[in-house]
Amino acid sequence: MQNKVSTIVLSDNEQTQKVLSLYVSEFEKFELLDKFPEYMEIFDTLSSLDKSVLIVDISDNADAKLSFIEDITKNIHNCKVLVLSDNPSVDLIVRVMRAGAKEFLALPVIKSELIDAFNRINESLYCVAPKGTRCKIISIFSNKGGIGKTSIASNLGLELAKITKEKVALLDLNFQLGDITSFMDLKPSFNISYMLENLNKMNEDFLLSTLERYKQTSLYVLADPPFFKQAADISPQHITKLFSILKDTFSYIVVDAESSFDAKNIAALTESDLIFLVTVANLPALRNSQRCLELFERLGFDKDKTQIILNRYMENDEVSVEDIEGVMGKKVYWKIPNNYFTMMSSINKGIPVSDINPDSNVARSYRDLALHLTDSIYRENLAKKYNSILD
Ligand SMILES: Nc1ncnc2c1ncn2[C@@H]1O[C@H](COP(=O)(O)OP(=O)(O)OP(=O)(O)O)[C@@H](O)[C@H]1O
Ligand SMILES: [Mg+2]
Repeated sequence: MQNKVSTIVLSDNEQTQKVLSLYVSEFEKFELLDKFPEYMEIFDTLSSLDKSVLIVDISDNADAKLSFIEDITKNIHNCKVLVLSDNPSVDLIVRVMRAGAKEFLALPVIKSELIDAFNRINESLYCVAPKGTRCKIISIFSNKGGIGKTSIASNLGLELAKITKEKVALLDLNFQLGDITSFMDLKPSFNISYMLENLNKMNEDFLLSTLERYKQTSLYVLADPPFFKQAADISPQHITKLFSILKDTFSYIVVDAESSFDAKNIAALTESDLIFLVTVANLPALRNSQRCLELFERLGFDKDKTQIILNRYMENDEVSVEDIEGVMGKKVYWKIPNNYFTMMSSINKGIPVSDINPDSNVARSYRDLALHLTDSIYRENLAKKYNSILD
């Protein structure tokens, strides 16, 4: 039988403290600990426990409590945090989730909702939650070469890992001319072919030892195969299988897709949750991008699945953003500024732009893109989960 999970309730409101304590004591899998006057004492107590739950009411002193929650979730992995507030809003819930809390409920608390939240927390403490459901696959694509796909895939992948601290896989699907490894100065021992040959043995440990971890981050790179023959042996079914395996371990999969409509590439795009269609402000590139949008429509992709990234953007470009949006019949999702020197220096040295010059306009743009993306994903998930609270 499972041991009871030690639970601490933290609220500045006497009545809320009492009600929550009462509910916890009624729930058989949880055991209520005493009330602690100081955050430090709570931290020390939770650090000493095997598995625990912290329930925090942030109706008062929200900022201090959110930074305390962040400390807890960063340092004490087996402590799950449930947050409550009498003033819920989308922005607040996003902050709560960013701080690492597992659940959010509106006050006054409804007992059945609290029990559901406890059950989910219990599942996550004992790892029985379904796998693979949270992973987002983001493909960076253009049917034109040399447009900035690898620069975007590698820098975005790294920023996503830095921001979320979750595991991010960066995949090079340019089967004959991949260059992620040189962009990031990596010499991986294994590549996609090796993984595909060993699909049957694949588990999380094997996967993490096969992919090349980028420095001390949570970014893992899977390189293209070095020989043409190996690339030719890879089928679209292999790609689909590869994604389904990676989805169990990674929160994000960023794909540097090939500039073609080859069946393997289409398989990757079909599997993707989001396609960043990269273009630049000149007519041939825009015409090509327009053709891509048409093809995606014929493939039955949802309109919102493809988003346009305008690379090498300059304010005084002859073709304006409005012109581009008119031609494409779609808003530009993100603009990455033109910065020849920083990009060249980054590529020639094999160092991501955030390390070459974190204050440069391109480094900031990649970072903000990752932030914007995680924010929209958080909001989308939260809307699904918390619709009733926010109605
Ligand atoms: N924002 C930017 N500003 C200036 N130059 C850029 C920018 N993004 C990419 N470049 C330059 O464009 C060139 C192509 O970039 P990259 O290799 O990322 O494109 P790609 O689409 O992956 O190309 P390929 O089709 O060869 O794989 C590089 O020389 C890079 O320095
Ligand atoms: Mg490339």
